[in-house]
Amino acid sequence: MAVPLTFLFLFSLTLFSQLHTSFSRQSHIELPSETHRSSQKQTHLHFFYHDLRSANNPSIVQIVNPPKNVPNGFGSTFVMDDPMTEGPDLGSKLIGRAQGLFGLASLNDLGMYMLINFAFTEGDYAGSSLSMLGRNPIAEQDREMPIVGGTGVFRFATGYAIANSVDDLSTPEHFVVEYNLTVRHG
Ligand SMILES: *[C@@H]1O[C@H](CO)[C@@H](O)[C@H](O)[C@H]1NC(C)=O
Repeated sequence: MAVPLTFLFLFSLTLFSQLHTSFSRQSHIELPSETHRSSQKQTHLHFFYHDLRSANNPSIVQIVNPPKNVPNGFGSTFVMDDPMTEGPDLGSKLIGRAQGLFGLASLNDLGMYMLINFAFTEGDYAGSSLSMLGRNPIAEQDREMPIVGGTGVFRFATGYAIANSVDDLSTPEHFVVEYNLTVRHG
């Protein structure tokens, strides 16, 4: 039996508007308000982390070796659990651990991907964390990486990190990196 096209069209139109109405009734999506925006805090964090590559107590372990036929160590992958300190010296106050995964992910230069959680253990931030996910062009100064989230006092965090290698303190077995983080959070 042939159904007239106009009927089909009207029928689907009715169905669509019914679905649409019931969706709008059920959704409880809150739109951002001025109150939410103005209750956000902006926090600046300054610390150093230490890549320790010594044979006895490494804080960095290479878990994937690069194949021989690729440039720039492409594919090398590491896990880290680095101490984070207030000052550039490893002996200065420990404020947390920088834990995560990073690797060489650029065929044309020394570019790393970073997937790091900063887990804080001191003061107001103890028990809270920030997550960083970004590209790290390790030969450059002022390397910028996004802060993509956080927990605890850093819930809803967004922001950016600026990283700089501290060359005058670093040795092949102990690499020091300075981090400046600017984050907005709830
Ligand atoms: C990082 O923060 C420190 C202390 O607030 C400041 O002296 C320094 O200039 C900052 N560096 C960058 C690259 O933002």
